[in-house]
Amino acid sequence: MAFIVTENCIRCKYTDCVEVCPVDCFYEGPNFLVINPDECIDCALCEPECPAEAIFSEDEVPENQKEFIELNADLAEVWPNISEKKDAMEDAEKWDGVEGKLKYLEQ
Ligand code: SF4
Ligand code: F3S
Repeated sequence: MAFIVTENCIRCKYTDCVEVCPVDCFYEGPNFLVINPDECIDCALCEPECPAEAIFSEDEVPENQKEFIELNADLAEVWPNISEKKDAMEDAEKWDGVEGKLKYLEQ
């Protein structure tokens, strides 16, 4: 089991999550972050830190977000590691809560 970053992170990328992860298992793309499920130790520390409420335990990922389970695993293999907080994306507040952001995912 692992924790999963889901759609509402896209175009927000607040990065508060990376600060608390004891095993540094976050990986960063242009406008989204993912968790490497093989490295995540399921500690749950990151979940309440995300201002966009984008992080879920794998068994609690909403039905319409299930594809993010595979996306986290796949993108963690190709994106670089991130272990320190940085500025959120420009317009993060504007995009927080917007539905259907998967189409904006940049790889
Ligand atoms: Fe890191 Fe823990 Fe979150 Fe997994 S659950 S990504 S180990 S902070
Ligand atoms: Fe994304 Fe939330 Fe982390 S918006 S970068 S999962 S704090």
